[in-house]
Amino acid sequence: MRGKWFWAAGTLLLGLVVLGGCKHEPFDVNTGSGGSGGSGGGSGPAGTVCFETDVLPIFVSSCAKSGCHDVVSKKEGYILDSYNNIIKKGIKAGNAAESEIYKVLSKSGSDRMPQPPNPGLTASKIDLIGKWINEGAKNTTNCNTAACDTASVTYQKSVWPIIQANCLGCHNNSLSSGGYNFSTYAGLKSAVDKGRLLGAINYQAGFVGMPQGYKLTSCQIATIRKWVEAGAPNN
Ligand code: HEC
Repeated sequence: MRGKWFWAAGTLLLGLVVLGGCKHEPFDVNTGSGGSGGSGGGSGPAGTVCFETDVLPIFVSSCAKSGCHDVVSKKEGYILDSYNNIIKKGIKAGNAAESEIYKVLSKSGSDRMPQPPNPGLTASKIDLIGKWINEGAKNTTNCNTAACDTASVTYQKSVWPIIQANCLGCHNNSLSSGGYNFSTYAGLKSAVDKGRLLGAINYQAGFVGMPQGYKLTSCQIATIRKWVEAGAPNN
């Protein structure tokens, strides 16, 4: 009996220590639209949520960071870096209301995920995750069937939304992973000038593949390549 209580208390304490360790500087990654489904509608077939472009970037940028839910840290057993890992725990396909991962997004204080001082997800991102779970938490990929249009690529209209949704969570003012902060044009340009951007997003040998854990769609890569080849202008 005593042993049982001892272990219960020990586990609780360890849990608190572990939880407290997962902290980052505040940064708002929520200005991004999160794929093309910013208003709560998805970018998959018939307005359904597309896992690959709507949901995965949110998990990777806001949850799968070092110290939180990446494969090394896996706080509370959650690894939120890929489809197979994300659906393993805390998601009841078809029922967002009973999915722990969904529930913690709207909690308050230190129960909320991402934990303060990180900002919480925006209502539209939370809706998107809820909708995806209610639609069966499927591994939808290759959702954009429209032809890839790289005819008039600009930094503001074409490149920035991709960076915002897929990179800013780890490359921002307070967390400049690898020394890169992409919240400004100059920050992204510095990666171009050092010749590190295209190799990284193409998962080329000799580079650390980016974003960590998944590859941008071929259209997103083509868009960034076009911009880089045009001299990476600030347009
Ligand atoms: C989950 C966090 C995370 C996300 C999301 C992320 N990065 Fe990174 N990035 C890192 C870390 C950590 C490093 C440093 C890696 C190292 O040096 O081992 C890094 C390094 C880099 C580098 C240098 C790589 C090299 O080989 O020189 C580039 C370029 C880069 N990131 C671009 C991006 C771009 C572009 C995106 C979005 C498309 C992105 N990152 C998304 C965490 C992230």
